[in-house]
Amino acid sequence: MGRLDNKVAIITGAASGMGLAAVKLFAKEGAKIVATDIAMENLKEEFSNQQENVLTLKLDVTSEKQWKDVSEQAQKNYGKIDILVNNAGVSVHKSLLDEDLEGWNKALALNLTSVWLGMKTVIPYMQKMNKGSIVNCVSLAAIVGGADSGAAAYSAAKGGVRSLTKHAAINFADSHIRVNSVYPGAILTGAAKKYGVTSQEQLGQAFVNTIPLPPHAGEENDIAYAYLYLASDESKFVTGEELIVDGGWSSQ
Ligand SMILES: NC(=O)c1ccc[n+]([C@@H]2O[C@H](COP(=O)([O-])OP(=O)(O)OC[C@H]3O[C@@H](n4cnc5c(N)ncnc54)[C@H](O)[C@@H]3O)[C@@H](O)[C@H]2O)c1
Repeated sequence: MGRLDNKVAIITGAASGMGLAAVKLFAKEGAKIVATDIAMENLKEEFSNQQENVLTLKLDVTSEKQWKDVSEQAQKNYGKIDILVNNAGVSVHKSLLDEDLEGWNKALALNLTSVWLGMKTVIPYMQKMNKGSIVNCVSLAAIVGGADSGAAAYSAAKGGVRSLTKHAAINFADSHIRVNSVYPGAILTGAAKKYGVTSQEQLGQAFVNTIPLPPHAGEENDIAYAYLYLASDESKFVTGEELIVDGGWSSQ
């Protein structure tokens, strides 16, 4: 028996990193998944053999229209939406003084407004079933000033997701819709690989003094398993929670 048998999940940013790991893990645990991203080539390459369980759709998380189209397609294809994982996000390395208004607005649109749009679009589908689970990806940067300290707008956006998660948790609890958040620390994903980092150990070298647990950096599945717990009924009495997955970084 899978931990997500008979569940239907929408996952954003599913073509790479934690999102990709989550689609694979959720599928293994019995879910049907609408895997979405803007990078459709990667997504189609990854899931061409599993079409029955994984429907790949384009979703730019900043587009309200695309959110509506994807949700309708999920409902049409699988009959319901049980789970939403708002995973997509990109860290923009611009300091408070170097950032400009255009960059600030873009970072907020991609990392914060997107999460609001996703919840605004999908919650009505969950309300029809009087049940649902939403998992929002935040970042240690929302809690600790020194995490991603070169990324002002990103930190602010993730701080917004932190409070929006709690707002939604409180306001939709009576519809049995749970809303939780996961806080990755330093995790080896596509984001680090773009900068030529190829192993956890290599990434961990930069965090020896800040992350106590070896190898001082995490892997994609560390986050996918956190998503899985919060998405599944195992966490049925958990809402508004902040699940930090950071190898002890924030305990310093
Ligand atoms: N990697 C880390 O150390 C770390 C730490 C803290 C938080 N996070 C968060 O984890 C989440 C996943 O990041 P990752 O590290 O797996 O990154 P990643 O770069 O491997 O994957 C991000 C995915 O998001 C997609 N994407 C980018 N813009 C999009 C848009 N407008 N609409 C839809 N999809 C879009 C990309 O195509 C990509 O597939 C993000 O929310 C990120 O902020 C990552």
